[in-house]
Amino acid sequence: MRTHTTLVINPKGGSGKTTVATNLAAYFAATGVATALMDYDPQGSSLNWLRQRPGNLPRIHGANAAPAKAGRMRSIEMRVPDDTRELVIDAPAGASGLLLQEMLVRTHCILIPVAPSAIDIHATANFIRDLLLAGRIRTSNIRLGVIANRVRKTSPVYAPLERFLTSLNFPLLGRLSDSEVFVSAGETGVGVSEMDFVASAAERQQFVPIAQWVEKRAAATEAKTPPMAPFYPGASIPGRAALRVIGKHVPAA
Ligand SMILES: Nc1ncnc2c1ncn2[C@@H]1O[C@H](COP(=O)(O)OP(=O)(O)OP(=O)(O)O)[C@@H](O)[C@H]1O
Ligand SMILES: [Mg+2]
Repeated sequence: MRTHTTLVINPKGGSGKTTVATNLAAYFAATGVATALMDYDPQGSSLNWLRQRPGNLPRIHGANAAPAKAGRMRSIEMRVPDDTRELVIDAPAGASGLLLQEMLVRTHCILIPVAPSAIDIHATANFIRDLLLAGRIRTSNIRLGVIANRVRKTSPVYAPLERFLTSLNFPLLGRLSDSEVFVSAGETGVGVSEMDFVASAAERQQFVPIAQWVEKRAAATEAKTPPMAPFYPGASIPGRAALRVIGKHVPAA
């Protein structure tokens, strides 16, 4: 059976890529699916999470795809077992150029976690626009969904991002709260779906629609033509003028 690959990516550091990638891998493994987690980040955070993983939990294969150092056989270390059904890729911050192309070649679906800062939202919107302009998303029918991460109460800071996504026909898949449960899961090699049911009920519930969206593997979301002008997150900054996305095919917010 063909391996379905999910790329978790955002050019900004600390947006939640490893948190989402590890939780998604744990979710799949817990449902009995042969799962692999591929770490492109030289920091190796996902592989480190895997090393902490208790032996009694469903196994996840770890693959190291970080740029090769002397003495490493990258092509061997990044191999995944043939029977892998779900492959989750944890991208490094700032991935671009050939490394980004290499990740995209095998990708069916992209998850982009975004932290609640105007700067991060701005960078993410421009990253999505660049991805669309590069063309591979459309030609390869790659699905793309965004996750608002580290949300505190109702964070209005995401409103401009939501409008930007709506204008491109991309979904905001869900909101993950700023919670110690995610931190604890990250430190102990588990996913929130594998933690004590009561203690992690809220976080588990937040993650389910994201995992289900990945599982769906429905027909590719059809993106509209991306805007050529940069994204201006004015509305995300209190006291600033409302957001205006300037582009031929994108309605002003
Ligand atoms: N929803 C959340 N609630 C609380 N803490 C979170 C949440 N998401 C991420 N964090 C914490 O924020 C930090 C950065 O998250 P994470 O490592 O997932 O980001 P990243 O995008 O992979 O970072 P990098 O770009 O360095 O690889 C970690 O300490 C993580 O535990
Ligand atoms: Mg990371």
